[in-house]
Amino acid sequence: MKIETFDLERIQSLWENTVKYNLTESGLHPYTVKELLDAQEIDRLLDLRLGYGQTNGSDELRTAVSRLYPGADLDNVLVTNGSSEANLIVTWSHLEPDDELVLMLPNYMQIWGIARSFGVTVKPFHLKEELRWSPDLNELKDQITPRTKMIALCNPNNPTGAVLNESDMNEIVNLARQTDAWIFSDEIYRGAELDGRETPSFWGFYDKVIVNGGLAKAYGLPGIRIGWLVGPKNEIEKSWSYRDYTSICCGILSQRLATLVLQPEMRKKVLSRGRKMINENLAELKKWVEKHADLFHFIPPRAGAIVFMRYRLNINSRDLSNMLREQKSVFVLDGDCFGMDHYLRIGIGSEKDYFLTGLNLIEEMLMEIGAGRTEKSRY
Ligand SMILES: Cc1ncc(COP(=O)(O)O)c(C=O)c1O
Repeated sequence: MKIETFDLERIQSLWENTVKYNLTESGLHPYTVKELLDAQEIDRLLDLRLGYGQTNGSDELRTAVSRLYPGADLDNVLVTNGSSEANLIVTWSHLEPDDELVLMLPNYMQIWGIARSFGVTVKPFHLKEELRWSPDLNELKDQITPRTKMIALCNPNNPTGAVLNESDMNEIVNLARQTDAWIFSDEIYRGAELDGRETPSFWGFYDKVIVNGGLAKAYGLPGIRIGWLVGPKNEIEKSWSYRDYTSICCGILSQRLATLVLQPEMRKKVLSRGRKMINENLAELKKWVEKHADLFHFIPPRAGAIVFMRYRLNINSRDLSNMLREQKSVFVLDGDCFGMDHYLRIGIGSEKDYFLTGLNLIEEMLMEIGAGRTEKSRY
């Protein structure tokens, strides 16, 4: 079985730990264990015996996750190594060669790549910039056929930071229902809303819904690798048997830490730190873009620590990203990773000084390459 290179992940992992200013990150500045836990809790963590964990996730963690989804209990939850493992398991367990998958674009391209390698026909529908990154539902309608097995969404969306409104969510459900298709919603950016109003989950909108979630983005804990699936109990049971083949279980320390972070008080604290950071950095970015209004334009994100910015330079996005990285040691993600040249995805989840220094370096580079390259096209 052949796979296509997963550009977005490969490019990030090549450079994100070697540059001085990494602005490719789509989640919040990561915590240390010491920042999260008091000495007593850390001692309890150190006393844990490092055996295998329960393969579907500890009862405590699954219970903590289930409380985020009205009507769910621990048997609706499968804990995974990151939400990326959740995506793999859903795609693997629910799609057969020759099925059709209708996928929201732009998107984190993992499901796109996995499904295609399985011989699934992947049909896109788009969020449109001219609709402020709302979906073109007519296009979605046109892409659905009796062979459509699943509609896969990313909400809040990577890379645009857009959030579906309730009427679009209902319409998507109606379309799925008409053809008895599954809805799989990648909801890893839930909790990172700029206005603090948590994005409604698709869970509960329809009986054939599976959603993912995890601690990598809004919670600033990518390194503990905790994600999950929430779905109907029989589907979670089925997904669990695929998970037995992937990585057996998540680390004991990670599961314990995740359980603590998902307790209501701690969760609130962690999410509000993140919200403050992205609001401050977004305000700075808006000021910066105003200074460079001839070059940049973006629709402000509603959620996620990312801004998807269109630029008016006559230079390919990967080339631009490479130049910034090689010459200024500042790293932003090129639009080519999403099949969208002339865009850059800029992470706004880092500490303010770090973020501002990164922006200054981009500005320096812009000065150096000069206005001569500016196209006169309109947005
Ligand atoms: C939309 C989306 N889903 C899933 C993932 C994978 O996240 P995790 O670190 O939880 O595996 C990412 C990572 O960037 C993402 O953007």
